[in-house]
Amino acid sequence: MTIDAFIREREKPVLDELKEFLRIPSISTLPDHNADCRRAAQWVADHLKGLGCRNTTLLGSETHPVVWAEGPPAPGKPTVLVYGHYDVQPPDPVDLWETPPFDPTIRAGNIYARGATDDKGQVFSIVKAFEAVSRNGSPPVNVRFLIEGQEESGGEVLTDLLRREPERVDADAVLVADMPYYAPGWPAIYTALRGICYCEISVRTLDGDLHSGLYGGVAPNAHETLVHILAQLKSPAGKIRISGLYEAVVKPTKAERDAWNRLPFSERSYLRNEVGSRALTGLKRYTPLERIWALPTLEIHGITGGFTAEGAKTVIPAVAAAKVSLRLVPKQRFKTVERQLRKRVKELAPPHAKASVDLIHGADPVLADVSARPFDFLRQAFREIEGREAVPIRSGGSIPIVPALAKRGAPVMLAGIGLPDDRLHAPNEKLAVEQFWKGVRVFGRFFELMGS
Ligand code: BES
Ligand code: MN
Ligand code: MN
Repeated sequence: MTIDAFIREREKPVLDELKEFLRIPSISTLPDHNADCRRAAQWVADHLKGLGCRNTTLLGSETHPVVWAEGPPAPGKPTVLVYGHYDVQPPDPVDLWETPPFDPTIRAGNIYARGATDDKGQVFSIVKAFEAVSRNGSPPVNVRFLIEGQEESGGEVLTDLLRREPERVDADAVLVADMPYYAPGWPAIYTALRGICYCEISVRTLDGDLHSGLYGGVAPNAHETLVHILAQLKSPAGKIRISGLYEAVVKPTKAERDAWNRLPFSERSYLRNEVGSRALTGLKRYTPLERIWALPTLEIHGITGGFTAEGAKTVIPAVAAAKVSLRLVPKQRFKTVERQLRKRVKELAPPHAKASVDLIHGADPVLADVSARPFDFLRQAFREIEGREAVPIRSGGSIPIVPALAKRGAPVMLAGIGLPDDRLHAPNEKLAVEQFWKGVRVFGRFFELMGS
């Protein structure tokens, strides 16, 4: 049976299976959902077992295990390691969803659910591609699955597992489908991922909160101190003011910039349709794509402390904290950046305040060499199915485990079948059903070409 015949024959049951997977609220960051994460892992493991996989096991954790499975052996054929994640982001704000986040619904050719594109739908398209090419139970290549349950929340379980058992990533190619096309009809093979340095900055100025009338005018305010520090971390023009931060940044090559400049991009429609604002920020000397793909960022995610409830309370807060992250580009290192940020915050804090920086999680950026042989097969698969050459672009997002997947020398192929408007991490996340089937065809064809 060809891949297309498989799709024709199995269209409805496969979508029902995907819906079953999407119904499990495997939110890794919320401890209330630990059992759901375990259930999602078990669901993946059982499914792969049903497709003939061996040594199907849950590894490394009771609550957020890594799923491992090995396809039936294909003697003498190369080995492809498939990486993905079954965990998802929290669905809130839930009232902005048109249909409930864990009640997958197909509307106008899209399947709406938390995890539809990030990453359950994409993982499942590879699983079904593997099924489609496993004729009479024998796939064209050796396939191994490594599906984690903590990508969205730190990833310690898989990091520790690969430290203990590095040979798990021995393969001829690693396939990661956790990213979007550049645009509809424009498949992408990613040449870089950003890293991240996610920290909490805390400030204490007093032993305890004080009455703002009795002490206002003399007592140092923790919020005032914190916002002063935060405001100094970036210039109004968008330059991050942390000394040494840009030193490790390598400029994109001329070839890369030329390729990016050939991509269709309209700042006006990007602003209106994707960003939803009146102006873009960041260093004007660089194009928007360069700012997202080749420059570090600093974002304030939230500020806590003091009084924010309904009504009014006259208080001078003693403590304040902000969650802040920097996205990093090749060849920055998150540990270095953490040190640089800490030094800068200490410099900016007045002597009477206690300011500290705690790392919440970090990941190094990735620069992928897309010249290895397996990339040719993936490019050919995209060309055959999409009728257009995959474009070499970078990602603004991060996948923390990728450096560990590359550690034993296997080329890591970063691609996917999402679309830019899939709203990952946001309300009404979706995956176009057509894209799902394209994934089955592209990844199935990739497996065939790898085995030929
Ligand atoms: N799939 C995304 C990463 C991604 C997003 C790649 C957009 C390409 C384009 C992944 O699940 C994700 O959300 N990663 C987090 C990592 C963080 C929690 C360390 C991210 O980038 O915020
Ligand atoms: Mn993802
Ligand atoms: Mn994500």
